[in-house]
Amino acid sequence: KDTTKCSWYSLLLCSIGSVMVVYYLLRWSWQCWHGFKVYVLSEIWQTNLRTYGQWLYGATSGIGRAYAEELAKRGLDIVLISRSEDKLRRVAKEIESRYKRQTYVIQTDFTEGHSIYSAITQQLEGLQIGILVHCMKVSIMLSAFFCLQRITQVINCNTLSVTQVRLSVWLVFAVRGKGLIINISSEAASQPQPMLSVYSATKIFVTYFSRCVHAEYRSKGITVQCVAPFMVSTNMTHNVPVNPLVKSAASFARDALNTVGYTTYTGGCLTHALQQFALSIFFPGWLRLTSFCMQRMAKLARSIEPQLRERMAETRNKQD
Ligand SMILES: NC(=O)c1ccc[n+]([C@@H]2O[C@H](COP(=O)([O-])OP(=O)(O)OC[C@H]3O[C@@H](n4cnc5c(N)ncnc54)[C@H](OP(=O)(O)O)[C@@H]3O)[C@@H](O)[C@H]2O)c1
Repeated sequence: KDTTKCSWYSLLLCSIGSVMVVYYLLRWSWQCWHGFKVYVLSEIWQTNLRTYGQWLYGATSGIGRAYAEELAKRGLDIVLISRSEDKLRRVAKEIESRYKRQTYVIQTDFTEGHSIYSAITQQLEGLQIGILVHCMKVSIMLSAFFCLQRITQVINCNTLSVTQVRLSVWLVFAVRGKGLIINISSEAASQPQPMLSVYSATKIFVTYFSRCVHAEYRSKGITVQCVAPFMVSTNMTHNVPVNPLVKSAASFARDALNTVGYTTYTGGCLTHALQQFALSIFFPGWLRLTSFCMQRMAKLARSIEPQLRERMAETRNKQD
């Protein structure tokens, strides 16, 4: 009697085990195929981005500028937006002479809150914006350096601007029944990130907002892609040297643009996707939140604070 019972349980356990093995095999196979399609096939069969419209909305440095240059190369005209008038004029001139495309500049400061958006909408009127690349940032700050004013600026720049600028181009997209928004989130949003609390929280806002809006409007021909990069060598990362893990802005923008039409949520390039996958296994969210890790990170933050302030001052001087 006992033996029959045991074999019945064994059979049940075997069946559950087999179902789990098949489930994970199918899941991993699908993930591998998806990765292959997004990061390898997309290099060969690129989406024609000119079908979205004639104008791209981008930024004057880092990832935003790299997107602008790549799209100017692919035949789009460029709207540049940032705080510094001089920088806007200089970058616009460079793009015009290098790629023979038209440019238009908008000077604004996204940390200022609601007041700036009606002016932006007015300036964009009449331009057939087809692609909006939203990748502004206030410097990434360790939580320990925050003050109240800084927190408001980060929230205005990283979250309010993402929702408001979308509205500025929405009418054009809706009338044409086509449009592409690329919002730049961050790997720091894929898991809770102690010591970068405000940055990481604003970036998960960008991720969820993008994915929800895409689900709401894809049937109307509007695509919203969320790109969550790892390290890219820009002013924000104090131009860390490029290496197999850190991409240059130009090569990141090229790879990330190839993924348009293949996925609406991406690390942007193969190396970043692999780093995210590895981190989710070896350094998951729950581990980052343990007091042991927190203490280590707080100690690290204190030890690098002087160098960080020095490098920030250097970057600011270079920009000036
Ligand atoms: N670099 C990375 O490793 C990395 C990784 C993950 C996510 N990201 C995300 O990628 C995005 C772009 O970062 P990045 O590395 O390209 O930074 P970046 O090189 O510093 O460029 C930021 C751009 O935003 C403009 N900008 C900054 N503050 C602004 C403000 N208050 N109002 C209007 N424009 C403003 C800057 O121009 P002005 O200074 O002239 O205003 C510049 O054109 C950010 O959202 C960042 O969080 C970057």
